[in-house]
Amino acid sequence: MNQLIAKIESKKAVIGVIGLGYVGLPLASNFCRKGYNVIGFDIDKKKVTKVNKKKNYIKSVNLKKYKKKILATSKFTRIKNCDVIIITVPTPLKQKNIPDLSFVKNSIKKILPFLRKNQLISLESTSYPGTTEEELTKKIKSMTVGKDIFICYSPEREDPGNKYFKTIDVPKIISGETSNCLKIAKKFYKVFFKSVVPVSSTKTAEFTKLLENIYRSVNIGLVNEMKIISKIMKINIHEAIKAASTKPFGYRPFDPGPGMGGHCIPIDPFYMSWKANQLGYDSRFIRQSGNINTIMPKWIVSNIEKFFKSKKKKINKSKILIIGIAYKKNVDDDRESPAYEIMKILNKKGSKISYYDPLIKKINKKRNFKNFHNLKSITLKNNKIKNFDASIIVTDHDIINFNKIYKNSKIIFDCRNRYKIKLNKKDNKVIQL
Ligand SMILES: NC(=O)c1ccc[n+]([C@@H]2O[C@H](COP(=O)([O-])OP(=O)(O)OC[C@H]3O[C@@H](n4cnc5c(N)ncnc54)[C@H](O)[C@@H]3O)[C@@H](O)[C@H]2O)c1
Repeated sequence: MNQLIAKIESKKAVIGVIGLGYVGLPLASNFCRKGYNVIGFDIDKKKVTKVNKKKNYIKSVNLKKYKKKILATSKFTRIKNCDVIIITVPTPLKQKNIPDLSFVKNSIKKILPFLRKNQLISLESTSYPGTTEEELTKKIKSMTVGKDIFICYSPEREDPGNKYFKTIDVPKIISGETSNCLKIAKKFYKVFFKSVVPVSSTKTAEFTKLLENIYRSVNIGLVNEMKIISKIMKINIHEAIKAASTKPFGYRPFDPGPGMGGHCIPIDPFYMSWKANQLGYDSRFIRQSGNINTIMPKWIVSNIEKFFKSKKKKINKSKILIIGIAYKKNVDDDRESPAYEIMKILNKKGSKISYYDPLIKKINKKRNFKNFHNLKSITLKNNKIKNFDASIIVTDHDIINFNKIYKNSKIIFDCRNRYKIKLNKKDNKVIQL
């Protein structure tokens, strides 16, 4: 144990990061920046080649800066060379919103034969309480956890595209399977993070991560439902949110939108409700907020359709321009983006869909959205915008020229309050949704 601590403190420890995606690659680069040698493991050979050729594929990471410090591989024998192993593989859902732990299980299966004494393994993927213990700790049979080898769970709190909080400034939740595991985890994460927040068990850390994300999901669900009600009552939801936000206690503002996206908020609540269900509890509240967020794209389209009808126009002949398909502003990640659901519903109704997103130039394969595979972003030219019957602002990246869109669109459905139109001020061009 002391040997491992000494290696961490002297920066001689080699850090292995399993899963070089949106979480793993920035994490790996952060440890390189601190002076550690990092080995990145990924089953995606294309990513491995890109890292080794220092070709960036995630906007926030500049691999060229870390010439010799990072090496990527698909060969798990190299696990032997790592002193710390961090697992950041996906935790998606299967059909019927059942957690899909296959990536976590596979990565653990791959590292098991190459584990040795004096290693720290940290699971960072989001999952339900009990995952670290059941899927990792119990699988290590040949060594004593807490004496020979050390295990912790430390949830990732990455917020892609957030300019205000650097990863280093966000306190890091840590937990260990034993007190020795926690001690080493503390030493390790202190290297990079300004503050660490130890909790008493890996289960508590897993629970904490889900609590944070469910808090967002529930509040976004609430404000989206309030938006639907405000529309019926002809009240501007944004004005009400601004006013409510003046209360210095007991209220935190959340913005309504076209639905939820990304790899976390639409998925993680189901990890908790599934596990609770296994233990005999039906978490109705968590499920309900998920349901409201899921119906938002349908609500958006039904309002667009109503508007078209009121103008004696047909939606089935319409040409629609979607502005922004990333799941949130200023990121190049389109996983679970509500834009696709909106596009799919409109497409089913017969609308012809194009999109503009300067951060996502082409739509890659999507299981549920086959019609849009390979569709390319249009270039934002005045004449092109004029050609569409309507523009829908789904994601408002800062680099988008919204003036140009305003000047050239026939009508704009604004799902992000980008144009901040007041309800009592007439603007014939923008409909807030
Ligand atoms: N993206 C976020 O903003 C974010 C924020 C906080 C937490 N998380 C959590 O972090 C985890 C990772 O998310 P992500 O967004 O980085 O996913 P991602 O899909 O971007 O990256 C995961 C990577 O893991 C690789 N991989 C899959 N199975 C593997 C295996 N057996 N061995 C090696 N590599 C393997 C994939 O090829 C991929 O490159 C998830 O649990 C997610 O919930 C994500």
